[in-house]
Amino acid sequence: MSRKFFVGGNWKMNGDKKSLGELIQTLNTAKLDANVEVVCGSPAIYLDFVRSKMDAKLGVAAQNCYKVAKGAFTGEISPAMIKDVGVNWVILGHSERRHVFGENDELIGQKTAHALENGLSVIACIGEKLDEREAGITEKVVFAQTKVIADNVKDWSKVVLAYEPVWAIGTGKTASPAQAQEVHDKLRAWVKTNVSEAVANSVRIIYGGSVTGSTCKELASQKDVDGFLVGGASLKAEFVEIIMPTSRLPNTALAV
Ligand code: PGA
Repeated sequence: MSRKFFVGGNWKMNGDKKSLGELIQTLNTAKLDANVEVVCGSPAIYLDFVRSKMDAKLGVAAQNCYKVAKGAFTGEISPAMIKDVGVNWVILGHSERRHVFGENDELIGQKTAHALENGLSVIACIGEKLDEREAGITEKVVFAQTKVIADNVKDWSKVVLAYEPVWAIGTGKTASPAQAQEVHDKLRAWVKTNVSEAVANSVRIIYGGSVTGSTCKELASQKDVDGFLVGGASLKAEFVEIIMPTSRLPNTALAV
């Protein structure tokens, strides 16, 4: 089964109206391939602005949301609010949410369920820390994280799984194509065993961690790498190179 290549940008807490406006202009005017789905993760305060400026063919994501619809939760935003400004995606479980802000699996699972119930699609992030990789427990960690997400998903067509080894995020240390492929392959096998073969064949498993214009080609050529979640490079014009399938090696995962 072909899986549409998916490239997410995660702008994190960067940019302002001027710089994001310029970036959006670059993206809007770039000749993008219809076979690649592009979704940009904007800071919450700019979601409305970004959605109103960004071409409709490009998706927009919030970088987080809370697990309930409304109430006394100072500083939080709800999926309903995200939908209200025309945004259809949310990134959940990002390693910075997990390890800087202390979000645990249970909360990420609850957020996933609530976001999906309220019509958002979810980029669900998982990934091991360096000490976990060195201790040989990468699989154990990512399977446990994936299970909590899977327990909260009814419709897998609304979910993209992002494998982001924590040691590769923002460090300039990209996982090698073989390292990425190995984990993606194991994750797909996990989904086959624990969800279904159909979901294993259709779910996009994307890679994140220091993806750049020069590392994306070989990573994209891996059988189970269905796209990327790009942080630093998504703020630069270089992002256009990463979303151009013509700049990559032929990829069996690309939809035809
Ligand atoms: P990076 O970030 O590309 O800057 O490593 C990736 C991410 O955090 O999603």
